[in-house]
Amino acid sequence: MITVAIDGPAGVGKSSVSKELARRYGLAYLDTGAMYRACAWWCLHEGIDLDAAEPDEQAIITAVGEFFTGDHFDISVDPNHPCVTSDGEDISEAIRSAEVSAHVSVVSGIMPVRRILIAAQRAFIAREASGDSQSRGAGVVAEGRDITTVVAPEAEVRVLLTAREEVREARRAGQASDAGAHVGADDVARRDAMDAKVTNFTTAADGVVTIDNSDMTLEQTIDAVSKLVEDAL
Ligand code: C5P
Repeated sequence: MITVAIDGPAGVGKSSVSKELARRYGLAYLDTGAMYRACAWWCLHEGIDLDAAEPDEQAIITAVGEFFTGDHFDISVDPNHPCVTSDGEDISEAIRSAEVSAHVSVVSGIMPVRRILIAAQRAFIAREASGDSQSRGAGVVAEGRDITTVVAPEAEVRVLLTAREEVREARRAGQASDAGAHVGADDVARRDAMDAKVTNFTTAADGVVTIDNSDMTLEQTIDAVSKLVEDAL
């Protein structure tokens, strides 16, 4: 059983790297960003005004609590079919919309919301560790902003992926045009700035390996993290 924790800012390539690692080593894949996105999607779906100058935090906390305890949320941790559903509806694409991206930091910045998600993420990781899971049993690759520090500081492999801002913006813009949405550089920078108020994903904590992949291909980045996994196996 191994836990691989990967943190980093928007557009650094965390998802592509994490999914491929999980496939390569037969591990589960947990996209914690997808969980925060699903919460923002749910709040919008419930009619909560996330554009308000002072969003109703209590309403957001209640909605997110209901989302999880009321069993409205499910996530597949199979790296070949990562999928988020709400009441059986596949919302994997909807949670990547420009609207959700623009509002997710409002939701993820609320500490009681984070506590609910952190507990759920730890439960997912523990479930994979116990082998009592829908998929694999050998462990998990979890990616996000606070996995190496808060969610799974005990992970055998902890990596902070970084890249220069202009490189990340270009990658993110490429993803957005693939998805048919437009995401400007300002959007990524604004989201990173908001996220940085509650999570530290720019400097590595003790024992966390930093990989700056600005001048690396995806393959090279995957190989660099694979080496760390091999050493830990
Ligand atoms: O990884 P992704 O860009 O999809 O994450 C979406 C958002 O979820 C981030 O901008 C951040 O607000 C939030 N997030 C977080 N903590 C994590 C993962 C994501 O706050 N561990």
